[in-house]
Amino acid sequence: MSLKPHGGKLVNQVDLEYPVHEVHSKIEIDMTALCDLELIGIGGYSPLTGFLTKKDYSRVVEEMRLADGTVWSIPVTLPVSKEEAEKLEIGEKVRLEYQGDTYGVLTVADKFTPDKNKEARKVYLTDDSAHPGVQKMFSRGDVYIGGEIVLTKRKAPEHEKYTFTPLETRDHFKVKGWETIVGFQTRNPVHRAHEYIQKAALETVDGLFLNPLVGETKSDDISAEIRMKSYEVLLKDYYPENRVFLGVFPAAMRYAGPREAIFHAIVRKNYGCTHFIVGRDHAGVGDYYGTYDAQKIFQNFTKEEIGIHPLLFEHSFYCTKCEGMATTKTCPHDASHRVILSGTKVREMLRNGEVPPVTFSRPEVVKILIEGMREKTTT
Ligand code: ADX
Repeated sequence: MSLKPHGGKLVNQVDLEYPVHEVHSKIEIDMTALCDLELIGIGGYSPLTGFLTKKDYSRVVEEMRLADGTVWSIPVTLPVSKEEAEKLEIGEKVRLEYQGDTYGVLTVADKFTPDKNKEARKVYLTDDSAHPGVQKMFSRGDVYIGGEIVLTKRKAPEHEKYTFTPLETRDHFKVKGWETIVGFQTRNPVHRAHEYIQKAALETVDGLFLNPLVGETKSDDISAEIRMKSYEVLLKDYYPENRVFLGVFPAAMRYAGPREAIFHAIVRKNYGCTHFIVGRDHAGVGDYYGTYDAQKIFQNFTKEEIGIHPLLFEHSFYCTKCEGMATTKTCPHDASHRVILSGTKVREMLRNGEVPPVTFSRPEVVKILIEGMREKTTT
């Protein structure tokens, strides 16, 4: 199994000694762009070395490929306002600032006005402004700036202990002696269904890289801070220490369903994973995507093009007749025996201090979630 990064080479665009004071133009970037800047710099988005130029952007939107044909499904763009764009000259260097600090320098290679309606329909498969990813995209600047970046300052990690570059995770897997590693993306606490599919995968691979997304999520998702505590307690009590590695994925959530599944898989390949779990409605929201669309999309590409093996799982649930976790592949009983709760329902229960059944979530995890939510509402 090959551990080659996407595009063949792990990108490293970090230069913390870069003379930023010699660069006079600057633009203010938002949190999504700051997360993307960091991930480009440390190689999480290899082979990207910067924000997409029009040539790359257009082909990504149309065909899920960069201009050179490499598979890439999510446009990683740097949007600015028309006024800001007018001030920028092609070829000039510009500082990328967030709340008064410079985090990177971009060499302007391109500026272009995207057709955002098209981007919405192609990438998110809807132009409904109620979709959180579409809403976010439309709320950002109308002109995209493309060009190579240098990451000149690392973002202060909120989860320092669990923050690693792809180079570091790759080293770590090597030290552990793992040859096959399954990556797990999540923006939620790990419930029984997640645990079931992770452990099913762990039966056949050497290690699990639990890689929760901790960048921006929609406001009603459970905060990363609370989630991290829940992962810690779960791993401590229910996972063999030498088979699991917890590290954060500092990107923003796009909620782009199938396209984001491809993106999530490729990024985990860069972190050194050989396998990637895609369950039901991966990176989905509401009813925008079919339950297994994020699995089917992998059929559009060859194994070599993706370079990481997707492990596909059916919708799993606790079956009261089987007295265990199952899916329709392994359980013959009808739906009335299944414990299935929507994310929205669970969040509502937790907010009200109600405890979801042990067949849905481990009590230790629920305790952390309820306490965390209580603290959030009283502070
Ligand atoms: S996601 O937006 O990050 O995909 P979530 O944290 O809920 O959301 O899911 C993490 C991973 O677990 C995804 O691959 C998802 O498809 C999978 N998953 C979540 N719940 C289930 C379930 N009940 N059965 C099977 N797979 C699931």
